[in-house]
Amino acid sequence: MIERPPSRARSLPILEIAPPPATERRSGTEPDDARLGEFRPEPRALPRFYVWTLGCQMNRSDSEEMAGRLLTAGATESPTMDEADLVVINTCAIRELAEQKVIGRQGHLQRLKDANASMRVVLTGCAVRERDRDGLERRYPAVDLFLRPDEEPELLDRLGLASAQAPVGVVGATTVVGRTVVGVADHLATTRAAAVDAGTVQRTSSVSAWLPIIYGCDKTCTYCIVPFSRGPERSRPFDDIVAEARSIAASGFREVTLLGQNVNSYGHDLEPDPRFGHIRTERWAGRRLDLGSKPDLAELIRAIDGIRTSDGVPAIPRLRFITSHPWDLSDRLIDAMAECPSLCESLHLPVQSGDDEVLRRMGRQYTTEHYLERLERIRAAVPDITVSTDIIVGFCGETEAQFEKTLAFLELVRYDQVFAAAYSERPGTPATHLADDVPAADKRRRLNALLAVQEPIGLERNQRWLGREVEVLVETIARDRSHEHDESGTDGEGSVPRGVQPGPGQVALSGRTRGNKLVHLAGDATWVGSLVNVTIGHAGPYALRGTPVG
Ligand code: SAH
Ligand code: SF4
Ligand code: F3S
Repeated sequence: MIERPPSRARSLPILEIAPPPATERRSGTEPDDARLGEFRPEPRALPRFYVWTLGCQMNRSDSEEMAGRLLTAGATESPTMDEADLVVINTCAIRELAEQKVIGRQGHLQRLKDANASMRVVLTGCAVRERDRDGLERRYPAVDLFLRPDEEPELLDRLGLASAQAPVGVVGATTVVGRTVVGVADHLATTRAAAVDAGTVQRTSSVSAWLPIIYGCDKTCTYCIVPFSRGPERSRPFDDIVAEARSIAASGFREVTLLGQNVNSYGHDLEPDPRFGHIRTERWAGRRLDLGSKPDLAELIRAIDGIRTSDGVPAIPRLRFITSHPWDLSDRLIDAMAECPSLCESLHLPVQSGDDEVLRRMGRQYTTEHYLERLERIRAAVPDITVSTDIIVGFCGETEAQFEKTLAFLELVRYDQVFAAAYSERPGTPATHLADDVPAADKRRRLNALLAVQEPIGLERNQRWLGREVEVLVETIARDRSHEHDESGTDGEGSVPRGVQPGPGQVALSGRTRGNKLVHLAGDATWVGSLVNVTIGHAGPYALRGTPVG
């Protein structure tokens, strides 16, 4: 714990949320029966909270857990940050820009605090790392309390808010990765299970649910901050995950996404169990591990796919997982992908670079040859599978010729979607010992060149769906933004796309195919959450458009 100078007015780490001002609109109405007055709860201390979430799906899932804890304690959700008296910022640190977004809001947050003396700001997520905890107050001066990702279950206790849940237990344990002290997620499996049991996870969608299966990352990618933010891999117990999937199914969700930085290394840290005696594998790369008699992602997928309705169909029609590492893409997993009807035909498999020397410097521990072999096997086993990837351009020492190899790799693989970013040096990562020597202008140029190569490939991949009937899980009603200035032309989610013309009584809707393709259509507002068959009539590089069948 950090020692704070006595001159600091606020009494952290235990925050006191002061009662809201007398004009506070949540003070309640007079009861109809005067006798009920005596039962009126004290108009005290329960904050309106706002959770600002940046970063990946893991953060979104963690925010759902935190919001649930706050609601259970009696706090209410504020529609905006400016009206809140507790702001929880769930940060991302994957690139410098992600951290800058929050650093750049410190002045605004401070002004809000100046206007509302009871306002408190909590900063959590991947920007809170043990190794540079001392620098946090300087970088985030408006923040009152810092929690590492593995300390998030402590939120209520540290805020001094009464908890309806059992005490969290021992948190804040650390371990050493390389030479760096990092937090460990040892207790997160238990706190997650408790939140699921208590029904407090505040899921933001009623259609699609996140299901974390493994916390942290054991990989050795030299550019990446995640192992230092999230600590080593910790798998949740198999039965806890299946129980959560059952409760998700019972609540009527249509889709579940298994989450982890490396979902396909799930299970290696669990104890052997005779139930999994038929599993006899070894991890082939990185730290060699005996995976015998331990559950793996394939086993988990089969168990969740095996949750069936009385008609024998999967109770959750769509199952996905993200993110996979090429190390751990086992034949067992490929077989499960081919055989489980609920598992969607889409795979996100980050390659990062198409050059073997760059991959070596990145510490990815596979070659492009190995990656292509895995991909070929998956494409043979799961016809029509859509494949997406992540690319980093301008990594330390990347030559023009090495970058060209990445472009050639994209031409060869023909991804459905590519998420590309310029390399951003992250403090404390092994790559800080390499020179970040590709000039910013070259990184930008390479990024643009990459997008120019990928766009026609994405278009061609989408055009393969023209005229075909696909199943769309309708997720959102698009907003009419025609009055707003928007140069993007609107392939984006959330706005009414060009070419979708809702008839009388209809709205513009968006959803996803099993291959995770974004589809726009016109239809009934009540279709949100339903699976609708759609004939694809138009394909752009980033989205499809279709007409409902019948
Ligand atoms: N665990 C996942 C990815 C997590 S981070 C995996 O290994 O695939 C998401 C993506 O951010 C990475 O795939 C990588 O492309 C990108 N990324 C990570 N660190 C980065 C850095 N320092 N600079 C630029 N991009 C980075
Ligand atoms: Fe980062 Fe590599 Fe782990 Fe992905 S696998 S989170 S890129 S260290
Ligand atoms: Fe960002 Fe942390 Fe996710 S660094 S991408 S929020 S794991």
